[in-house]
Amino acid sequence: MAMKYLETMMTESVLRTQQQYYGHAAQITDAPERDLLGEGEAEFLAARDSFYLSTVSETGWPYVQHRGGPKGFLRLLNPSTLVFADYQGNRQLLSTGNLSTDDRVSLFLMDYPNRARLKILGHARVEDAHSHPDLAVQLANPSMKARVERIVFIDVVSFDWNCPKYITPRYSIEEVEELAGSLRTRIAQLEAELRTSRRGSSTPSAQ
Ligand SMILES: Cc1cc2nc3c(=O)[nH]c(=O)nc-3n(C[C@H](O)[C@H](O)[C@H](O)COP(=O)(O)O)c2cc1C
Repeated sequence: MAMKYLETMMTESVLRTQQQYYGHAAQITDAPERDLLGEGEAEFLAARDSFYLSTVSETGWPYVQHRGGPKGFLRLLNPSTLVFADYQGNRQLLSTGNLSTDDRVSLFLMDYPNRARLKILGHARVEDAHSHPDLAVQLANPSMKARVERIVFIDVVSFDWNCPKYITPRYSIEEVEELAGSLRTRIAQLEAELRTSRRGSSTPSAQ
């Protein structure tokens, strides 16, 4: 368990609430400055094609936006840095605007088929794509016509894995196609066998 995550999230009001409902509050001691992302997290991130990004508005409202792209578009640069491209989009710039007054972010990543979810806390920095031309090219989604305007760097503070309970397995079209592939092959084999056997049974047998 990444202790820095719990230490960060278990604020005084959370601990008071635990005390009120259950008569005791969690004791989080010796949490490190930050928790580094490891191999398991790297593998999970490389397979994600979407995530939810929440920021805090300057008036304190939570804001959440969906981000999508090819698998691994949220790139792990090193064990404590994540990066992704931000496109010229709907021109609202809500996340970017929020990040100019509060750099704290929470990321929520789902793996529905494997019923796993990962939450990440960090500090985000938005930089102009012109300052990172090579990275902008590497991170750009080739299937998107939109221009990469900004690059978002996330300095990871910690992360937390949640249990699989209550996650309904869901599959993308790509995953369904992959699963259906072996079934299609088997159906084709059986159809071929059926054709052969029908041809055999319609041939008059020699007496
Ligand atoms: C042409 C176009 C392409 C886009 N491509 C992506 C994309 O690949 N991934 C993504 O998450 N959002 C994409 N978006 C959505 C925008 O970037 C969207 O404006 C942004 O997520 C909004 O962020 P905000 O709610 O923080 O303002 C695209 C939008 C447009 C109009």
